[in-house]
Amino acid sequence: GKGAALVTAVARRLARQRHDLDEILASFDLGPEKLADVARRLRAAIDQGLRMENRGQSSLKMLPTFVRSKPDGEEHGDFLALDLGGSNFRVMLVQVQRGRRRVNLHNQVYPLPQDVILGVGEHLFDHIAGCIADFLENTGMINHRLPLGFTFSFPCHHQGLDQGILLNWTKGFGAKDCEGKDIVTMLREAIERRNDYEVDVFAMVNDTVGTMMACSYDDPHCEIGLIIGTGTNACYMEELQNVECLPGDKGRMCMNTEWGAFGDDGCLNDIRTNFDKLVDAASFNPGLQCFEKMIGGLYLGELVRVVLLGLAQRGLIFRGRPSQRLFTKGIFPTHFVSQIESDSMALLQIRSILRGLGLDVTCDDSLLVRRVCAAVTTRAARLCGAGVAALVEQMRENRGLDHLQVTVGVDGSLYQLHPKFAQKVTEMTARLAPRCSVSFRLSEGGSGKGVAFITAAACRVREAGMH
Ligand code: GLC
Repeated sequence: GKGAALVTAVARRLARQRHDLDEILASFDLGPEKLADVARRLRAAIDQGLRMENRGQSSLKMLPTFVRSKPDGEEHGDFLALDLGGSNFRVMLVQVQRGRRRVNLHNQVYPLPQDVILGVGEHLFDHIAGCIADFLENTGMINHRLPLGFTFSFPCHHQGLDQGILLNWTKGFGAKDCEGKDIVTMLREAIERRNDYEVDVFAMVNDTVGTMMACSYDDPHCEIGLIIGTGTNACYMEELQNVECLPGDKGRMCMNTEWGAFGDDGCLNDIRTNFDKLVDAASFNPGLQCFEKMIGGLYLGELVRVVLLGLAQRGLIFRGRPSQRLFTKGIFPTHFVSQIESDSMALLQIRSILRGLGLDVTCDDSLLVRRVCAAVTTRAARLCGAGVAALVEQMRENRGLDHLQVTVGVDGSLYQLHPKFAQKVTEMTARLAPRCSVSFRLSEGGSGKGVAFITAAACRVREAGMH
């Protein structure tokens, strides 16, 4: 009778809902074969990016960094280091003593207001020059002419260590009139406009490079730098003879892969979900930084938000009634994701985070939110693992080795704060690159320490040239 029909209808609906839910979560679940394939595609993009011919066809820019050697322990002196490219701007005084395995670091964080990040380029650099002045005052160094190293975490075309043309902004930065310009010149000019202190800018490097150098000071096997923070990127030591755009064929050069842009040519379309497309479409740089948008902290929380919204609209969560706030871009920061996934976080606490977003949640909802977070971050960590596997295999084959031992210097908020991310990256790397022993090492002192070593070496070369 009618009752039986109703029961069947409800059962059908529940079955369909379960199926929808499984399907959505499964679309984030990349198996080892798929990931091995992603690693192969990344290697192909690396090869293409290293070649002269058709190099524009690769989504990997493969930028030479002009860093060729590791720290040798002879670095010595006081250096100023700047770090631009994360959520804050940092100024550091790095004191390095020859032969000692320790450095002294003073640093100060300066917030970057949105109108500075998105305003006129000159103003951005005036702001930076102002922060440096403040820092030099505070540390009593205003009358010292210090050598300076600049960690500038955006894609730059270098023709030397102390210059670099910004190719394009990423990660929500967008100051006008900077793309296509030499960033070191912009910095020097801003400092000259002030005319109240002097510095010598010796080097500008990517954060991956600073991280690798900081780590290789303590670990000679460190030949890869990896960032998993607001954005993601990696650098590694490549054979100079493989870098077709540069002369010389002896030794190695550190290459900035800019792997955040991997897939911008469409080569990852088969793994992108509709949710990825939504996040991309609402971002400040649609169509760009495909890989980064599946991994970086600037995007993961947003990805979780749009998945939750999708689930709610299909009636699969929040009783089918998403709160008004859930429709707002950016309300779900990635550190929520890290919190929700941490083991010590009880369901009640998860509920209180979600209530803060105006969501009235059941226990089941809280569990489901946690599953969504895990699906999104597990995919991100595995993709990073596939990326590292591609790099270490490239290095192993370059060197004609059966087995390669290598250390990856890592930095970045997501890697550091998320309870399971690091372990998943390590596991996937080991699985996809079984002929390499890869250890991951958190870079202490971050890129500031690293850029100070690079600056020290550059300083020494210049002094030697003058005598
Ligand atoms: C973005 C930048 C890249 C940087 C990375 C991590 O991908 O383009 O240069 O290394 O973020 O900060």
